[in-house]
Amino acid sequence: MKGGFYGLRGRELSLITIVLMCTAFLFWAWEKTPPLTNLTPPETRLRLSPDDLVSKPVASLLSPKSKGVSSFAEKVIEQVAAPLISSQKSTERSVIKSNPVNTTDRNVEILASLSEEEAKGKQIQEPQTYVGAQGPTIRTEVEGNHNKMIEQVSEQLEVDMVAQVTIENRDCNYAKGKWVPDDNRPLYSGFGCKQWLSGMWACRLMQRTDFAYEKLRWQPKNCQMEEFEGSKFLRKMQGKTLAFVGDSLGRQQFQSLMCMITGGEERHDVIDAGKEYGLVQARGDTRPSGWVYRFLSTNTTILYYWSASLCDVEPIDKSNPNTDYAMHLDRPPAFLRQYLHKFDVLVLNTGHHWNRGKLKANKWVMHVGGVQNTDRKLAMIWVAKNLTIHSVVNWVNSQLPKHPGLKAFYRTISPRHFVGGDWNTGGSCDNTIPMSVGKEVLQDESSDESAASAVKGTGIKLLDITALSHLRDEGHISRFSRTANPGVQDCLHWCLPGVPDTWNEILFAQI
Ligand SMILES: *[C@@H]1O[C@H](CO)[C@@H](O)[C@H](O)[C@H]1NC(C)=O
Ligand SMILES: *[C@@H]1O[C@H](CO)[C@@H](O)[C@H](O)[C@H]1NC(C)=O
Ligand SMILES: *[C@@H]1O[C@H](CO)[C@@H](O)[C@H](O)[C@H]1NC(C)=O
Repeated sequence: MKGGFYGLRGRELSLITIVLMCTAFLFWAWEKTPPLTNLTPPETRLRLSPDDLVSKPVASLLSPKSKGVSSFAEKVIEQVAAPLISSQKSTERSVIKSNPVNTTDRNVEILASLSEEEAKGKQIQEPQTYVGAQGPTIRTEVEGNHNKMIEQVSEQLEVDMVAQVTIENRDCNYAKGKWVPDDNRPLYSGFGCKQWLSGMWACRLMQRTDFAYEKLRWQPKNCQMEEFEGSKFLRKMQGKTLAFVGDSLGRQQFQSLMCMITGGEERHDVIDAGKEYGLVQARGDTRPSGWVYRFLSTNTTILYYWSASLCDVEPIDKSNPNTDYAMHLDRPPAFLRQYLHKFDVLVLNTGHHWNRGKLKANKWVMHVGGVQNTDRKLAMIWVAKNLTIHSVVNWVNSQLPKHPGLKAFYRTISPRHFVGGDWNTGGSCDNTIPMSVGKEVLQDESSDESAASAVKGTGIKLLDITALSHLRDEGHISRFSRTANPGVQDCLHWCLPGVPDTWNEILFAQI
């Protein structure tokens, strides 16, 4: 998110200072000893491998795709760091004399990601640095200092680059990692978060007596996950709006996030902004179709809209109270079409309403292209669901150019853990011991193929929580459900605090 990397400011400043000092020094050094600058004895060889530092991070940091880097940092790197690194690189090139790599090629690689004008500027700016490296190996005091300084700067740069990349976690797959016990969990109290957390999901308010499931933290394998803090989240989301649109599992994630931001404490500076989104409880409704809360301190809005199928549903005969509903598989929910422009972060999900029973109970009739579906293949639930996921993802993707600031996520399916039956046929999930089924996710691919294939090649990110949640069979509401009929277990929804908190930690890390 632009302007969101507040933590970088100090580092950026020190980077600029060092880089400016060094650039000045380099020019001075070239003036003084023009033929020596390209000669670096092997013993003072830079620790930077061109592949590690020059090609990858710089090229990727400079690439127009790297939206995550603050524009400020981009400028610094473009204007100051890149030429410096280029000169370091050519210095190194001269060290490894037998290295067959074509410097010009590498340079082209780096410049390829710059605009034409910028690239021209670069070439004019530093012509000597690419001149040949041949010449007698003479070592002078000046050169030694020069090299030492380059070494220091390169180290600093390396640190900065690594920090940048770590914070950005560009290549990080948060879905891969392991669960670890952590006494600093949970992030809020299931007793305390009454303002936002429904009693039906607060297992602390039920008969349940084991709470080991609250004390786990997800540790991604190859990346640092910034510790979630409510104040940090609000600062990051200053003046912004985050929307969850999906089924009840999306609502769980929404309530979890509200509890996480507030630490489960009561807040009086949060207003209900439902009216702005037409979300008011109509007379006779058991509940509104969504909730909108705004933190006045930072003008941050968090909302949830209930769209179980994630497609447009409208009554076929508005005047008939017993009407069926057209479920337009290839049309995004009206709410999304109407309000997308107001969102800065969007988290979509669907999944558990895609079965014959739910369709029938909701009186949903599949429609495609505006007319009732007659394609028998498409009528298969999983095919219809796949079509809807692809449609909604494609539609949001098509809107991204109009809303360049929007970060859109599709959250993969939340796994169920019914054993010995389904939700309505005596299925249960009685395990209370965390990580009994394992604690690690090693696979690279998402377990939710439909979601993964839908986002592929789009600007929508996957919030991939399926496999990691699959390891948490002990975290469901289980037999303690207050709303289920006697004997019926809830092995679908999660106790809160609990697993959906982790989804939000990963979301926070990806924003
Ligand atoms: C280096 O690459 C450039 C551009 O691709 C090419 O024009 C030049 O001939 C190459 N030089 C060598 C020594 O391969
Ligand atoms: C709050 O943020 C919204 C965008 O989410 C913006 O339209 C509005 O002007 C802001 N209000 C204030 C008082 O800053
Ligand atoms: C899901 O739908 C997309 C788009 O309609 C299609 O390309 C893909 O093959 C489908 N996936 C499966 C598993 O049917």
